[in-house]
Amino acid sequence: MSKTKLSFDAPIYVLAPLAGYTDLPFRSVVKKFGADLTVSEMLSSNALVHGSSKTLSMIEKSPNEDPYSVQLAGAEVDVIKRAVEILNEQEGIDVIDLNCGCPVPKIVGHGSGSSLLLNLPLMGDIIKTIKDTSNKSLTSVKIRLGFEKKNHIEIAKIVEGSGADFLAVHGRTRAGKFKSEVDYDAIREIKESVKIITDLVRNLKAIKIELSFVDVGGGLGIVYKDETLIDTNEYAQSILENMFGLDITIICEPGRFMVGNAGTFVTKVLYEKVNGNKRFVIVDGAMNDLIRPSLYNAYHRIEVLNDNQEFSDCNLVGPVCESGDFFAKNVQLPKTEHNDLVAIYSAGAYGFTMASNYNTRGKVAEIAIENGNDRLIRRRETFEDIIALEEEFIK
Ligand SMILES: Cc1cc2nc3c(=O)[nH]c(=O)nc-3n(C[C@H](O)[C@H](O)[C@H](O)COP(=O)(O)O)c2cc1C
Repeated sequence: MSKTKLSFDAPIYVLAPLAGYTDLPFRSVVKKFGADLTVSEMLSSNALVHGSSKTLSMIEKSPNEDPYSVQLAGAEVDVIKRAVEILNEQEGIDVIDLNCGCPVPKIVGHGSGSSLLLNLPLMGDIIKTIKDTSNKSLTSVKIRLGFEKKNHIEIAKIVEGSGADFLAVHGRTRAGKFKSEVDYDAIREIKESVKIITDLVRNLKAIKIELSFVDVGGGLGIVYKDETLIDTNEYAQSILENMFGLDITIICEPGRFMVGNAGTFVTKVLYEKVNGNKRFVIVDGAMNDLIRPSLYNAYHRIEVLNDNQEFSDCNLVGPVCESGDFFAKNVQLPKTEHNDLVAIYSAGAYGFTMASNYNTRGKVAEIAIENGNDRLIRRRETFEDIIALEEEFIK
């Protein structure tokens, strides 16, 4: 089908299938009044495969129905495949639609219609089978928002991930039959949840640009304080659902997620001072060692490793003469003594890698902890290390 036949660039008018009503004469009249797409009444894939003449006659269309969609109902992959093969022999069909919304007991009792919403893996398999078998331009799916309860986002993602080109939504659950209030917010949520990335991959495929890799990046976040992290299993699952059916390598870059909390910056208290009402705790580490707080106000949990319980508000700062040389402002820390150790957590990512020799400060030593034992893995830089590459040019 050429793009001009059915374009989603602007809203389109579709005549919803109504079993028992939207027969050929009905559809051709509605078409004359401007429907962009007409859909056959729901056809039983079983009846089609068994050669039912009534069902075969229901495929017939009026010449003005262009584009035209035929809707199938069924619950068995093999039968659906055969039904699609039969439709493949018929000209003038542009879309094959799968009914996953019919609430009628006779249909639900056979496991088809809205029953498929109770077995999403099967629904996905059936959609994929239609997509793979069909010689028509498009595959679509008609869904409800769920069977008993709404799980519309999950359903929509599986529909999309299984290769459907578009979907139609009846804004009620099966339990809502034809009476409950239509949930327009849920329809909007479905629209928003459908991933542009998969559309992009499929659209590029359609114009013969094959992508081999999709990099979903990182951005998983870490716990600095009391943040709730996304469930990595659910995250992986939603990526897989959306990429389902695409022959593509998925690359994920969970850098900070893996190493952010694996590193702690340990520094020593030099002294405390009070300036006006403000208490400052000055440590020997500085902004050159861990620049995240001064660069973009990053939060790092801080713990003074002493037993003092006299907490009060202070700024934890470095010894460099810069207003940006701080690790935290207005934090509650206990009273400290010279040489108390201070742990600045979550320094494993963008810590050492962003360190510099600013103020002629050598980079810190790195210590790895393995099975409870510590081991030096990079020695502290000396002044000689800092000037090593310039030495030969110093006259
Ligand atoms: C009598 C009747 C028959 C229907 N038959 C079908 C059908 O064959 N396939 C389908 O996808 N939806 C069918 N539907 C659902 C409609 O296409 C549409 O999604 C629904 O009626 C929208 O809800 P509304 O009537 O409250 O606007 C039928 C609805 C009715 C009332």
